[in-house]
Order: sequence, then C-alpha cells, then structure tokens
Amino acid sequence: MTLIYPGSFDPVTLGHTDIAMRGAKIATRLIVAVLDNTNKQPLFSTAERIAFLQDALGHIGNIEIDSFSGLLAEYAKHKHATAILRGLRSPGDFESEARYATCNRLLSASNIETIFIPASPPLSFISSGIVREAALYINNLDDAALRNMVSPMVQDALKKRFNSK
Ligand code: PNS
Repeated sequence: MTLIYPGSFDPVTLGHTDIAMRGAKIATRLIVAVLDNTNKQPLFSTAERIAFLQDALGHIGNIEIDSFSGLLAEYAKHKHATAILRGLRSPGDFESEARYATCNRLLSASNIETIFIPASPPLSFISSGIVREAALYINNLDDAALRNMVSPMVQDALKKRFNSK
C-alpha cells in the first residue's frame, strides 16, 4: 500500500517525522510530498525543505521524499497511492482535516481516502508555525526549547536564517 504524506513542512518538525515513521510502519511505500506552492512565500525553499526531510527520514527504506504542485488528489493518482496520510495534533485539527479529506475524496477519480494518525502526546504542541515564531523571537537558537521541536539540521538553518547571536 502506497501512502502519501503531504504538507508544507516549512520546516519539518519532530511531530512530522514521528507521523512519517509511524505511517511507514503500516505502508509498503510512504511518499512524503512537499507542497511546492508558488502563491505562498515559505520561509524555506522547496529544495531546503526536501533536504531537511531527507536528513530526517532518508535512512528509512520505504520512505521517499518528493514535491508536488497543483491538486493533491491528482498527485496521489499519479503516484498510484491508496490513501493520504495526515497527522492530528488535537481534536480541533479534525474539523478542518475532515473537510480536506472529503474534498480530496470528491476530487479524486479513485475516491482516495485519508488516514489519520494522532500525534504522540509530547509532540502534539509542535507545529511549523510555532517553530517559525519561536525562532523569530528566541534569543539563543541553541536553546533546548528548539531542540525539542526540530532536528539539528533545521535548528542550524533557523539560526542562519534569523542570524541569532
Ligand atoms: O502542512 P499543511 O500546510 O497543513 O499542508 C496542507 C496541504 C499541502 C496538505 C494542502 O494545502 C494541499 O493538499 N494543497 C494542495 C492543493 C489541494 O489539493 N488542496 C486541497 C483541495 S480539497
């Protein structure tokens, strides 16, 4: 079974890597797909976001890292995916994610389903948005707080981006 785990991953967090690793245990092939969205200005380029994901997950045999643009339902069909994988950090996430899941199913000729995996409790507070905001304001980006949220490679990249002392 091929699963697609799509996202902005701007940047990938420890929460994302936890979901990807758990998803890879139930899939024969898991494609982590970075949204290459030209309308939105991400903090990190698509190439950087792919490099962070390769660093975090590239050692797992059945995980591939890719990027896509346009409709997720079409990309999933092109990859012959059985289902889309999404993580749920809180019950509140389910509201918007259920809408996306229904929309993707209706947009897909093969009625693609979405599988949800709940975030591991210690990681459920982490989001890329929180990481970006913390990195902007935190005085010392070597701080242990960031180490609990992202990989060392992402932490280094945030340090360079925000030119922390
Ligand atoms: O990490 P994110 O930002 O929550 O991921 C959102 C993502 C990439 C899954 C979503 O924006 C997406 O699938 N975009 C592609 C366009 C699309 O197919 N939209 C869904 C219409 S129902």
